Amino acid sequence: MNKELSVLNSKINVFLHGGDYNPDQWLNYPEILKEDVRLMKLANCNCVTINIFGWSAIEPEEGNYTFEWLDKIMNDMVANNIHVILATPSGARPAWMSEKYPEVLRVSSDRGKNLHGQRHNHCFTSPVYRKKTYEINKLLAERYKDHPALIMWHISNEYSGECHCELCQEAFRNWLKKKYDNNLDKLNEAWWTGFWSHKLTNWSQIESPSEKGEKFVHGHNLDWQRFVTDQTIDFYKNEILPIRTITPNIPVTTNFMGSYPHMGLYIGFDCWKFAEEVDVVSWDSYPAWHNNFESTYDLAVNVSFVHDIYRSLKGGQPFLIMENTPSLVNWQDVNKLKRPGMHLLSSMQGLAHGADSILYFQWRKGRGASEKFHGAVVDHSGQENTRVFREVSEVGEVLKKLQEIQGSIKESEVAIIYDVENRWAIDDAQCLKKENKEHEGYRQVDRKRYEETCQKAYKAFWNRGVSADVINMDCDFSKYKLVVAPMLYMVRPKVADRINEFVKQGGTLVTTYFSGIVDENDLCFLGGFPGPLREVTGIWAEEIDSLYENEVNYIELKGSKIDSLKESYEVKDYCDLIHAETAEVLGVYKNDFYANMPALTVNNYGKGKAYYIAARTGEDFNNDFYSKLIDDLNIKSVIDGKLPKGVTAQMRSNKDNKYIFVMNFTEEEKKISLGETIYIDMLSGEALSKEIHMDKYGVKILKE
Ligand code: GAL
Repeated sequence: MNKELSVLNSKINVFLHGGDYNPDQWLNYPEILKEDVRLMKLANCNCVTINIFGWSAIEPEEGNYTFEWLDKIMNDMVANNIHVILATPSGARPAWMSEKYPEVLRVSSDRGKNLHGQRHNHCFTSPVYRKKTYEINKLLAERYKDHPALIMWHISNEYSGECHCELCQEAFRNWLKKKYDNNLDKLNEAWWTGFWSHKLTNWSQIESPSEKGEKFVHGHNLDWQRFVTDQTIDFYKNEILPIRTITPNIPVTTNFMGSYPHMGLYIGFDCWKFAEEVDVVSWDSYPAWHNNFESTYDLAVNVSFVHDIYRSLKGGQPFLIMENTPSLVNWQDVNKLKRPGMHLLSSMQGLAHGADSILYFQWRKGRGASEKFHGAVVDHSGQENTRVFREVSEVGEVLKKLQEIQGSIKESEVAIIYDVENRWAIDDAQCLKKENKEHEGYRQVDRKRYEETCQKAYKAFWNRGVSADVINMDCDFSKYKLVVAPMLYMVRPKVADRINEFVKQGGTLVTTYFSGIVDENDLCFLGGFPGPLREVTGIWAEEIDSLYENEVNYIELKGSKIDSLKESYEVKDYCDLIHAETAEVLGVYKNDFYANMPALTVNNYGKGKAYYIAARTGEDFNNDFYSKLIDDLNIKSVIDGKLPKGVTAQMRSNKDNKYIFVMNFTEEEKKISLGETIYIDMLSGEALSKEIHMDKYGVKILKE
């Protein structure tokens, strides 16, 4: 990747505000297209994303191109100082293509071929589909390469899913041959095929996982998911070939999925690998604000966690929020309106975590089809006098006032490891407890709340206004003071060496139960868990007990050297039965036949320390324990004073300034103590110090 492409296009030094604009649906309504431009300016929008699903409007019949409408939109945008992020249309294709070339249609894991319809319904391997997407992208690049409106490419839309057609089966076998050096014995060993007589004697016997066939060989499932990642990236690389050649200076992004399905990380692909191939990371954020199953504050923590994943994907480079809704999301179970104030607050939350845009799905509600009731900036009433329109305009105003923050970064001394392959493997493992059992195609997934466990650890830092990166296990640990690796079940090659080195050099590691269990093929480590982490943690984990929902145990810290912690904390779900080898025991279990066995340990290793939390702890323990580490390690909080529950503070900075976002994710007014530092409120211009009051869903952006 060119270095100069690694930041947003140099043409852009403003926060982008606007979003998905689908004029292709409105070509019979020229007066509406004209009105759109007036309204965009009123709403303080400076950017649109177009052509995402425009293929049948630019190529209604094979080889018959009708770009004129797109030319007009591009020209109208530039005439009104509105930037364009231009999409390649591969997310959905015209019906003529599926009819003429059925190989482009996706085959599901039950081996049924899809009919034409919906979207994201194509085979990633099909040479025809690759040729067609290459050709249309080349035409787009040639036509708009010098267009002043064009600032970025939006490649396809939310790449996801998998295809099981014959072409993909062949590609999978070839991928495996390459991975296993053409040696079937190596594959048989990695997949442990002695199990249930699954030994393979010919590559042709290999099929992708299916509910009708193989689904219990975990190494096989993992390799399939890795193949799907690689094949999706390969398809994308083919899409960008003409774009890179014709417009080498226009950055490229693709919109990753945030939390659906399961952060887009489960089925689909490993976004860490994909991120290497894009210039700018972008994602689509659709939280269910104001739901009745979690507090606003808890949901906000989860959203922050996902923002921090996307920021960390490219080492902290600012990312884009490519889609979010200004109002309701029409596909949630209950389509709740965003309450007044939440739109500004959630937008600022994105910025606080490193986003350089607030872009919406979508600009204007369509008249028909499944998204006609999805929140949009312009409603069916077609005018500016709506609550949502006013709130969007306000966000646009605020972004202008905050312009100097654009491009600044967020630094962290703490990292939480949340690893996609580890997630795949944990979800597939048949053990522990069946929590949130779900079906996903051929998979029956026993989720063990891995993501939630990582988020709960993360929350302790959010509460204190401490910035944390969310990284995978291949990232560089050396820049952090503290690395927290909950449930690090899979440990890929060299990871343990890197962890050891990190701790030896003075770093602090926290890991937990269900860590160091399998290698990269999901084969259990022999010789005692936590496998390659045994030396650094100084413990041996012999067995894990699972607890029923109504069962609890306790970690007793009586007489331990950890001051500031309570004497006892409740633990649930999992209790790892461990033996301290070189580690010091800080806490023991209270109950059951393993009473008095270690439940919390620390091992001095080189200049650093490795903590092992043997059981699933609750919020009280996490807050106290991580607060202690924050203090001991001198980790910086954004604000000196203690933050009230539900309020966080996050900071971005550049060489000249520090920008602090204080956000109240509760329904009550809160007082926040700022200490002696004097800040300027960037929205009101007022000088602030000592104590501030924040309304329900209030947000303040302070400059030190
Ligand atoms: C996204 C998708 C958009 C739109 C939106 C609705 O996942 O990229 O095209 O469908 O959801 O929430």
